[in-house]
Amino acid sequence: MSKITAAITGVSGYAPEYVLTNKELETMVETNDEWITSRTGIKERRILKGEGKGTSHIAVPAVRDLLKKTNTKPEEIDLLICATTTPDMVFPATANLITAEIGAVNAFGYDLQAACSGFLYAVATGSRFIESGQYKKVVVVGADKMSSIIDYTDRTTCIIFGDGGGAVMLEPNTEGYGVLDQVLKSDGSGAPFLHMKAGGSRKPATIDTIQAREHYAYQEGQTVFKFAVKNMADVSAEVMERNNLSSDDVAWLVPHQANKRIIEATANRMGVTSDKVMLNIHKYGNTTSGTIPLCLWEYESQLKKGDNIILAAFGGGFTWGAIYVKWAYDPK
Ligand SMILES: CC(C)(COP(=O)(O)OP(=O)(O)OC[C@H]1O[C@@H](n2cnc3c(N)ncnc32)[C@H](O)[C@@H]1OP(=O)(O)O)[C@@H](O)C(=O)NCCC(=O)NCCS
Repeated sequence: MSKITAAITGVSGYAPEYVLTNKELETMVETNDEWITSRTGIKERRILKGEGKGTSHIAVPAVRDLLKKTNTKPEEIDLLICATTTPDMVFPATANLITAEIGAVNAFGYDLQAACSGFLYAVATGSRFIESGQYKKVVVVGADKMSSIIDYTDRTTCIIFGDGGGAVMLEPNTEGYGVLDQVLKSDGSGAPFLHMKAGGSRKPATIDTIQAREHYAYQEGQTVFKFAVKNMADVSAEVMERNNLSSDDVAWLVPHQANKRIIEATANRMGVTSDKVMLNIHKYGNTTSGTIPLCLWEYESQLKKGDNIILAAFGGGFTWGAIYVKWAYDPK
């Protein structure tokens, strides 16, 4: 019997309506459009507004659209993995809230937390379920409501992040398409440079933690930048070497959208020209688990069956990785 691989058979995305521009940020913190654009490549990001709305309110419309596009009934889904750093609640898993909302009554679901590499880890994990032969339809969601953990008085972080997400469908393939290889890494010694100080079991919420603004993302930008540039480029080059892919063989690089300069450094190291690099950071900023599916969604109409695609990410933890995918379908 031919080997089963996990093919991506559909992709969808969801960007909340509200647009937070650099101009509006100028009214909130001491910054300016020129600084943000030249240092990060970001012009605007989306914010999920509305009382009681969480990450599942980004994921649900994305998954509903995915089901429509792939002609799938909710009850056909076997498993839904939600990569997120901003779950609706500490428990239950956001994946469970999503499956309940869409009526995926036969699916089990769980969340996966790997910061900005979450979507990559979840695609790698979901693929194993497909390869086992036991599961036929696995939905992988990457979504974050970063605005829920961003301090809008801290100009070094609030300019970077935004809300958004997307989803892919994984299904078995025996013709060699889909997720073919991955290099995934993590190093917990990077935790001090990008983390949230309170709200976990080490330091539950108190009036003091709130007053000390410890429920927001804390980042040492320059250190994160240095590790991101080196590590994202290293794993992307490694996955190419392992699969004997030259830069000409690579149709697309799909990089995590954290900073345009990090993306350029990765592309340079791979020898991939800018026309092959998916880029939408100017529109959405860093949506953490959402960046890669949002890119695939926006570029879907340009992807052709057989395209060699490298997904690459770096995030808090530290976590990082690259995945080699052979695209399974032509534009529909
Ligand atoms: C955060 C980041 C954009 C900052 O850019 P940078 O070039 O490293 O800037 P620095 O931190 O060196 O700061 C340079 C100066 O700009 C200032 N500055 C910082 N944020 C600013 C802002 N929003 N507007 C204007 N000035 C700002 C700093 O205070 C500093 O001023 P000083 O020289 O007078 O002290 C950059 O470090 C970065 O992108 N890091 C990686 C972040 C990331 O990818 N995170 C997610 C990981 S998945």
